[in-house]
Amino acid sequence: MAVQELTDVTLPSSKPIVLAGGTGDLGGRIATALGRRRVAFRALVRPGTSAALRAGLEAAGATLVEVDYDDGAALRDACGGAACVVSALNGLEPVMIGMQGKLLDAAVAAGVPRFIPSDFSLDFTKTRPGDNRNMDVRRAFMARIDHAPIKATSVLNGAFADLLTGQAPIVLQKQHRILYWGSADQPLDFTAKDDVADYVADVALDAASPRFLRIAGATVSPRQLADIMTDLTKQTFRLFRPGGIGLLGVLIGVARTLTPRSDEVFPAWQGMQYLRDMASGRGKLAPLDNDRYGKKKWTSARDVLASAA
Ligand SMILES: NC(=O)c1ccc[n+]([C@@H]2O[C@H](COP(=O)([O-])OP(=O)(O)OC[C@H]3O[C@@H](n4cnc5c(N)ncnc54)[C@H](OP(=O)(O)O)[C@@H]3O)[C@@H](O)[C@H]2O)c1
Repeated sequence: MAVQELTDVTLPSSKPIVLAGGTGDLGGRIATALGRRRVAFRALVRPGTSAALRAGLEAAGATLVEVDYDDGAALRDACGGAACVVSALNGLEPVMIGMQGKLLDAAVAAGVPRFIPSDFSLDFTKTRPGDNRNMDVRRAFMARIDHAPIKATSVLNGAFADLLTGQAPIVLQKQHRILYWGSADQPLDFTAKDDVADYVADVALDAASPRFLRIAGATVSPRQLADIMTDLTKQTFRLFRPGGIGLLGVLIGVARTLTPRSDEVFPAWQGMQYLRDMASGRGKLAPLDNDRYGKKKWTSARDVLASAA
C-alpha cells in the first residue's frame, strides 16, 4: 500500500524507522515492505554480517548501521532520531529479553517514541503462563516494555501460513491426512510471512497504533483444511485425530523429558505447545485488525497449499 493511501491513521513523519533483525527471514521481508513504501529506514547489522545479507538490505532501500548490541552508546546512536524501532529478532531469553532489552534501552535513551517488539505470534495475552515456553518469553518482555517510557505495539498474527506446507505437523501430504487435536471445527489463525511484513511496515508508520494489533490472513479449521486439500489434489484428505488437548499435553511432557536441553528456538515440543494453544482456542485472535490500513489482499490457506500441492 502506498503511503498516500493511509487514511485513518496519522501520516508518517519524515523521521526514519530503525529495523533490528533485518538479516532474518521476517526482518528481510519487513525491509522489503518498508522499501516498497519508499520509507527512509536504517537496518542494524551485527559485525560479521555477510556481504550478501548487507547487499540484500541495501537493495531493499536500507541504510546499514553496523552495531554491536553490547555497546550501549553505539546502539543508542543507531536509534537516534527514529520515529519507531522495529524488532524482528529471534531467539530464546538471551536474545528476546537480553538483546531486545538492550535495544529497548537504547531506543528509550535516544528518545524514540515507539517500539514494535518481535512478538509475531498467537495471542499470548490470553494463553496460560507455563503452557508455551516461547510465549512466556514474550510475556516477560511485555512486562518490561510496559514499564518503559515508550509506546509499544505488538503485532499478533497466529502461525505463519507458510508453515502449512511442511514444518507444521498439520497437513500430512504423503498420508493424505489432516492431523488435529481436540475439535475438527476449531478455527486456527494463520498469516503469510509477507502479509505480516507488509502490515508491520504500515504499523511502523502509524504514530497512533494501539498496544496490540491482531491479524489473520486465513482462519481455517482442520475440517476446512481437509476440504481444501481434497479439492486441490483431487485425492481424499481425511481427518486424523490422535486424541484431545489433554493427550497432546501428556505427549508434550514426554517429548520435553526425552529431549536433551538445547538452544533450539523451535524444538518439536515447542511446536507441540504452539499447536496446543491453537487447538484449544486459547491463543485465538479476536477481534481482528486486518482492515486498519486498508490492506485488501491476504494470502489464503488455499493459496499457500496450492503452491505446494
Ligand atoms: N508465528 C509464527 O509461526 C512464527 C514462525 C517463525 C518465527 N516467528 C517469529 O518471527 C520473528 C522473527 O523470526 P525469524 O524466523 O525471521 O528469525 P530469523 O530468520 O532466525 O532471524 C533472526 C534475526 O535475529 C537476529 N539475532 C539473533 N540473535 C541475535 C543477537 N544475539 N543479537 C542481535 N541480533 C540477533 C539475527 O541476526 P544475525 O543475522 O546477525 O544472526 C536475525 O536478523 C520472531 O519473533 C519469531 O519468533 C513466528
